[in-house]
Amino acid sequence: MTENFKSDVIKGLSGLPKSLPSKYFYDEEGSRIFQEIMNLPEYYLSQCENEIFEHQGLDIIRAFVNGAPRIRIIDLGAGDGIKTKLLIEACYKLGIEPVYTPIDISAEAIRVVRENMKDEFPELEIDAVCADYYQALDQLENSEDEMPKLILFLGSNIGNYSDAGSILFLKELSSRCHIQDALLVGFDLKKDPRVILAAYNDSQKVTKRFNLNLLQRMNRELGADFNDEKFDHYENYDPIEGSAKSYIISNCDQLVRFKEIDQEFQFTQGESVYVEMSRKYDFDDIAHFANMTGFDQPRHFTDRKIYFSDSLFKKIGLRK
Ligand code: AVI
Repeated sequence: MTENFKSDVIKGLSGLPKSLPSKYFYDEEGSRIFQEIMNLPEYYLSQCENEIFEHQGLDIIRAFVNGAPRIRIIDLGAGDGIKTKLLIEACYKLGIEPVYTPIDISAEAIRVVRENMKDEFPELEIDAVCADYYQALDQLENSEDEMPKLILFLGSNIGNYSDAGSILFLKELSSRCHIQDALLVGFDLKKDPRVILAAYNDSQKVTKRFNLNLLQRMNRELGADFNDEKFDHYENYDPIEGSAKSYIISNCDQLVRFKEIDQEFQFTQGESVYVEMSRKYDFDDIAHFANMTGFDQPRHFTDRKIYFSDSLFKKIGLRK
């Protein structure tokens, strides 16, 4: 990872405008801060998705299952697995036996989610795969088991991809799905722009800490000398485009040195480094993704405020 990190940092900070990929937020410290974000009152996304699974978990599983006695639930980027627990519970309530397959590139993340699940459901069969998503899905494909697969991509993780990137990703997943399989994708919906802006500009400034941790990560891993005090977090939401964009702003003219890579980068006062896009959707956008990637018209499960949708994508041709 450090090699890719190094080259992506050099490329991103040499570019005009400067940018850094948001995937690098999630080192150990960044993942810990992200847990804090998910518990913030302003970060409605997690609360909404929990509400959906609490109230409609049974309907989601029923809409997918088509009479199968066993299903495989594949969790892409499982996190702590809290939301997935509600779907597993729903399976048991319906008399369906779930096999749980978390997929993560980090062995530590797999260990944590496995422990959490085992505490809650001692009998649950857990068949984790430590690999990147596509490799893991290929591996499962070769194992030739007959269980229908429900692939979860929750929490609006898709929103951190460009639309073109999302379509590519969904096509890759679609090509690995059989007729009885489905995806459940969490989409954050367009809504009052002030609600969205507040979610990424929280009053306790946890999101600021989350973003500036990227500077600390460059200090730790690439020997840089960023001083947090000299940078800030800036958030912007464009309600027409449906994109919340995060930037790190330089508070003054400054030179930052990277010991490990023997390079320095100049920042001018007010200069921005683009670090993340969090896309917000309407139902037409979601239907368009399904149309473009080999899935039927999706079925949407939303919270009461219609802030968030977990949309079920079934392969084209599957009886509803
Ligand atoms: C992980 N991802 C869906 C989050 C989001 O809402 O875009 C990351 C995040 N960034 C700032 N707050 C949360």
